[in-house]
Amino acid sequence: MSTPGFMNIDSNTILFVKDLRVWFPVRRGITDVLARRPPLYVRAVDSVSFEVKQGDVFALVGESGCGKTTTGKSVLMLYEVTGGQIGYKPSQDLVDSFTKLGYKPEYITEYGHIDLSKVPRKYQRPLRKEIQMIWQDPYGSLNPRLTIFEILEEPLIIHKFGFTRSDRYDMIHRALELVKLTPPEDFMNRYPHMLSGGQRQRVVIARALILNPRFIVADEPVSMLDVSIRAEIIELLLELKQKLNLTYLFITHDLAIARYIANKIAIMYLGKIVEMGDTEKVIRNPLHPYTRALISAVPEPDPSNRLKVREVPIKGEVPSAVNIPPGCRFHPRCVALDEHRELRGVCDKQEPPMVEVEPGHYVACWLYAKR
Ligand SMILES: Nc1ncnc2c1ncn2[C@@H]1O[C@H](COP(=O)(O)OP(=O)(O)OP(=O)(O)O)[C@@H](O)[C@H]1O
Ligand code: SF4
Ligand SMILES: [Mg+2]
Repeated sequence: MSTPGFMNIDSNTILFVKDLRVWFPVRRGITDVLARRPPLYVRAVDSVSFEVKQGDVFALVGESGCGKTTTGKSVLMLYEVTGGQIGYKPSQDLVDSFTKLGYKPEYITEYGHIDLSKVPRKYQRPLRKEIQMIWQDPYGSLNPRLTIFEILEEPLIIHKFGFTRSDRYDMIHRALELVKLTPPEDFMNRYPHMLSGGQRQRVVIARALILNPRFIVADEPVSMLDVSIRAEIIELLLELKQKLNLTYLFITHDLAIARYIANKIAIMYLGKIVEMGDTEKVIRNPLHPYTRALISAVPEPDPSNRLKVREVPIKGEVPSAVNIPPGCRFHPRCVALDEHRELRGVCDKQEPPMVEVEPGHYVACWLYAKR
């Protein structure tokens, strides 16, 4: 598997995803089996490649069902991957402990990345200390029967952090201070239902931080919050990133939030990245007809810095991930084909490669690639 030209994997790359495929088998009925119909798959993630440098906020943006969460959960080793690589650069402490455990070097790439898609189960737990997730739903992701202290103590016990309850108390105290639930003593003995939505999301963030992670997958972390508290949580995430030297894979369907928080952005459509690069380049100069359609739908929060709202239409509905159109998967909806008739026999047959159109700005579309 060769490395795509838009990736420059080096020792500063904390995570890379190369040709990642995550396909879910579709349940088959007895008639399918008797008729010997071939198995069908939901191609949730269908050859996705990107890299995240240390300190980046890398946003994965796209409409519902395009494969954002599946990509994030694969990085967290929660799914069995169909194909491809997920390279993660662990801390030196983790490398040392793996060496002691006799970890096989074949899972480690030349830059010291561990392939998370192949790592045996027994090594996943130590890796999870470094790679944490902030979930979308602060209501569903906290156990209502546990106090905030118990919720935060759980990962410490599982990962054997802190020898005594008093050590753990200190760690929980610090985590609550970090997320500005102060004084921490006032929150430790409360239950989740005694907190507001914003406070609950702060607890979710504290739980993600309590094991001192290096890499955070944040999946729509503010989409279920009131608009009035979204900005506070976004500011908190940015502040924590600076203070704790974190790197984020930030998943959102909201381009305005992605623009605010991320320095790199990747636009996903039906299991694949269609455009990516430096956030401002992608937002100010969207190239892919799908990105243009998305940007025409973004309300601009800051009137002094208006995005040029383009009236670019988009045809039809997103096709099923079981039946992905051949060639460019966007072709049945692409309005550019009305104008570029010469591409009609190309786009529905050949998949466009990802090409660099300006430094740090890549797009997969035949309007820009050599045929
Ligand atoms: N465990 C699963 N089994 C079968 N299909 C799945 C599974 N998880 C996700 N899918 C399907 O994979 C596709 C991608 O889903 P995913 O949840 O990754 O999308 P998403 O971009 O996160 O969407 P949303 O914005 O709605 O959260 C969808 O078609 C979804 O129905
Ligand atoms: S490759 Fe063709 S169909 Fe796909 S987005 Fe570009 S112009 Fe449209
Ligand atoms: Mg999702």
